[in-house]
Amino acid sequence: MRLNKKTKIVVALLLLAFLAAQFYRPTIAVEKPDEKRLAHFSPEVDAILRRACFDCHSNQTALRWFDKITPANWLVADHIAKGRAVLNFSTWNDMAKPDRNAKLWEAVNQAIQGAMPLKSYALVHGAARLSVNDIQVLKNYVKELAPKQEADTAKEAALASQYASLVEEKARPDTLPADVNGIAYIPEYKDWTPISTTQRVDNGTIRIIFGNEVAVKAIREHHTNPWPNGTIIAKVAWDQLTDKQGNITTGAFKQVEYMIKDDSKYKATAGWAWARFKTPALVPYGKTSTFTMECVNCHRPMKDNDFVFTAPIQH
Ligand code: HEC
Ligand code: HEC
Repeated sequence: MRLNKKTKIVVALLLLAFLAAQFYRPTIAVEKPDEKRLAHFSPEVDAILRRACFDCHSNQTALRWFDKITPANWLVADHIAKGRAVLNFSTWNDMAKPDRNAKLWEAVNQAIQGAMPLKSYALVHGAARLSVNDIQVLKNYVKELAPKQEADTAKEAALASQYASLVEEKARPDTLPADVNGIAYIPEYKDWTPISTTQRVDNGTIRIIFGNEVAVKAIREHHTNPWPNGTIIAKVAWDQLTDKQGNITTGAFKQVEYMIKDDSKYKATAGWAWARFKTPALVPYGKTSTFTMECVNCHRPMKDNDFVFTAPIQH
């Protein structure tokens, strides 16, 4: 193909602009690992995390040549800054043990859901993609964090004392509590339909997820992405209790959380109101109105699923 003179000039100018842009690049700090602070799991798990997560979630980022080209490098730098801020395997041991367990559980959960590594990244970094076997290795590893299945007298005592106070109605507040955003506790969730159950292996709780009528109708009609306005999803957590016979049951009530859908009213928080009430005294969670960003950020990997993790059991 022969290009006319004008086209040639335009192409040359674009090329020049591209080359000039290469001098304009972000700095991405890379450090040698400090063994004391660095995360160490099993060798198999280490290998997977290093391959699939370390570029954005450690200080040992290994940039490929194509990661360094402007403008791609600005996107890369942004991912790394945000990734390191929320999860950094290079400073893993700075966290307390329960926090490490919770983070690891969350990390594996995101990998299982296919939310991590970021899709745009996996597309160009083939080696980072997780195989079915990788996921299984991660799952098996977090399973071992689960509390041992032995009679747990402390949890039994917690249930017994809670039960006693419930019977006496001591713990129950007179008026429905509301949180800093004015979202009130909704007692009716107990009569709603369970739409899923989950078990959290790292901290030994059992949860049931309930949906109100709007939610259940949406599930029946397969209209859950997005969920319709008026949907309320409630997630309740209890201790996971193993009794002396080895039966696993729910123990003491821990908390209930709500997601209330209204895409205009709650536009700033992903279309949902978020609220959490803890212990039988129903203490509202969150000191300032922006506590909801904690919820939104952790649910963000599910943004293509209307910020909801649960895949409802089909009724
Ligand atoms: C290309 C960069 C990149 C890679 C690779 C990557 N992540 Fe992420 N990750 C991010 C970014 C950016 C965030 C911040 C969340 C957001 O804003 O979407 C994040 C958030 C997270 C979070 C949420 C942390 C929190 O507390 O909010 C977890 C957990 C996570 N990633 C786990 C993983 C795991 C596990 C892997 C490897 C299987 C992985 N990520 C690979 C960029 C990456
Ligand atoms: C550490 C990450 C994390 C944070 C922080 C978080 N969630 Fe979740 N949430 C999850 C995960 C994962 C699920 C999926 C169910 C499960 O595994 O228990 C979930 C499920 C839910 C559900 C059931 C619907 C669904 O998405 O499956 C509700 C309701 C909910 N969360 C409310 C909240 C509220 C309210 C907050 C803030 C006060 C919050 N969450 C903060 C991780 C988080």
